[in-house]
Amino acid sequence: MDCTVSNVLFSPLKVGELDLPHRIVMAPLTRNRADQSGYATDPMVNYYSQRATAALIISESTPVSPQGVGYPFTPWIYSEEHAAAWGRVTRSVHAGGGRMFAQLQHCGRISHPTLQLLGEPPVAPSAIRPGGQAVTYLGMQDFQTPRALETDEVPSIVAQFVRGARMAFLAGFDGVEVHGANGYIIDQFLRDGSNQRTDEYGGSIRNRMRLLNDILDAVSEVWPVGRIGVRLTPENSYNSMSDSDPQGHFEYIVGQLSGRGLAYIHVLEGDMLSTARKVNYQALRARFKGTYLANNGYTFERASAAVREGTVDLVAFGVPFLANPDLVRRFREALPLNEADRNTFYSGGETGYTDYPFV
Ligand code: PHB
Repeated sequence: MDCTVSNVLFSPLKVGELDLPHRIVMAPLTRNRADQSGYATDPMVNYYSQRATAALIISESTPVSPQGVGYPFTPWIYSEEHAAAWGRVTRSVHAGGGRMFAQLQHCGRISHPTLQLLGEPPVAPSAIRPGGQAVTYLGMQDFQTPRALETDEVPSIVAQFVRGARMAFLAGFDGVEVHGANGYIIDQFLRDGSNQRTDEYGGSIRNRMRLLNDILDAVSEVWPVGRIGVRLTPENSYNSMSDSDPQGHFEYIVGQLSGRGLAYIHVLEGDMLSTARKVNYQALRARFKGTYLANNGYTFERASAAVREGTVDLVAFGVPFLANPDLVRRFREALPLNEADRNTFYSGGETGYTDYPFV
């Protein structure tokens, strides 16, 4: 523990199979700096290794298959070549003393035919078109109505996650985060605004959770369960998501996850598009006997108080980590933070990526 700040945010924590030196996690952040074939690039090696003092880095979303791609220039975790490209990142993070999970992603309906290999419509639990526009190589394009998966196709989604999990293992990650959040395919199954299926993957919350459970069962054959995290967003309306009973449904989901011995659940609290809160996160957390990683707009002060009061175990910082490679030091020594430049979040190139200054 540092003598300048006696703060529980800097106390170590055993998380699943990992020993974390403190509680400040780097949140997954889409940055679109891969190449067009989905390979991690040199600037990505630099960007992540600059941030190796995080307790844990959670990678940006990594599509597990061509079908799972939803944005340009995202780094895939699909082939051995993709794993090799990511391996340069993980080696560099480890050399800096860090730990890194791969966030396994399938975007489902948040994609566009021009991002799909054969120009086909993206797939989803139900043929419900999200509002708004997809980001494509041809600029912004209206979302299109996705194709509802046939019942016998759903296991292929599980297989895509398993393949991604294997590639993440080959790539030298320390674990994986299954992306069950933010309106992508698992979340599309979980929430009833996007899942109107009448087979065993729809209807009751038990059925809507089946895909996530099947993915976790299968990914647990690849990774020790103490190296698997799950991200959830009970009430985020981003990507046209809604649910008729977020509190009840997510208390069920979290309760079911509790028995698995996962490394953590990672909960984006609230709604990225509004400050209103409908969900009681402490009631949710009470259902989970394991590490609770919280995210969404936490400041150093709020995070310190939450860890001190025991309402969270770990806090993931997004924008502050993006703009401050040495965020942990700045927090520890109460130093001022760099401002983030929103214009370069997704712009490609090294400006606003690897050039934020260290103290
Ligand atoms: C995004 O690129 O907008 C994005 C990706 C993954 C998320 C959230 C947002 O979980």
